[in-house]
Amino acid sequence: MTTTIISSTNRPNSSTFKLAQYYQKRLAEKGMEAGILSLMDLPPNLIQTDLYKKRSAEFLPIQDIVSKTDKFIFIIPEYNGSFPGVLKVFIDALDFPGSFYEKKAALVGLSSGKYGNIRGIDHFTGVCHYMHLEVMPLKIHIGSINKEFDEHNNLYQSDTLQYTEEQMDKFILF
Ligand SMILES: Cc1cc2nc3c(=O)[nH]c(=O)nc-3n(C[C@H](O)[C@H](O)[C@H](O)COP(=O)(O)O)c2cc1C
Repeated sequence: MTTTIISSTNRPNSSTFKLAQYYQKRLAEKGMEAGILSLMDLPPNLIQTDLYKKRSAEFLPIQDIVSKTDKFIFIIPEYNGSFPGVLKVFIDALDFPGSFYEKKAALVGLSSGKYGNIRGIDHFTGVCHYMHLEVMPLKIHIGSINKEFDEHNNLYQSDTLQYTEEQMDKFILF
């Protein structure tokens, strides 16, 4: 069983990547090893080199990680009321339908605003279902992300801990 956490933005120093690292650490503590695939690592000219049946040497290891993954966690920031465009470009560049077909995913939304990307997570759920990627019913929305990490980059607020722990425990069994 191979698990991959997708850090779903290429923005440098993103809270998304911090949260991906936190999920990786907590899952490891619970006995589940997961890799992180950050969209920071996409080829910079992806829209020229890897869309519409083109394939660059740089993208091959990324495709390979996705192809070998059975279960995904997508950590998804809210950009203009939805999920980031770079996440859709990434998905459009991957092999279809094999990359996600009949696999499983958990979704985590975050934002600097109040609502933790509820709408973007709903939008992305529609994309997942189109690809036959089964979405775990418990989705997490973390708003005001700037107030959520302590000095060690751990989550610490009790309600956030309660929901993220429940999601991870359910994801391990999913
Ligand atoms: C292009 C862009 C659009 C954004 N749109 C929203 C938004 O619609 N709502 C919101 O609450 N925050 C918005 N933000 C702020 C992000 O939620 C914030 O940066 C947060 O830390 C998560 O994104 P990050 O992983 O890039 O840090 C936006 C940020 C960017 C870069």
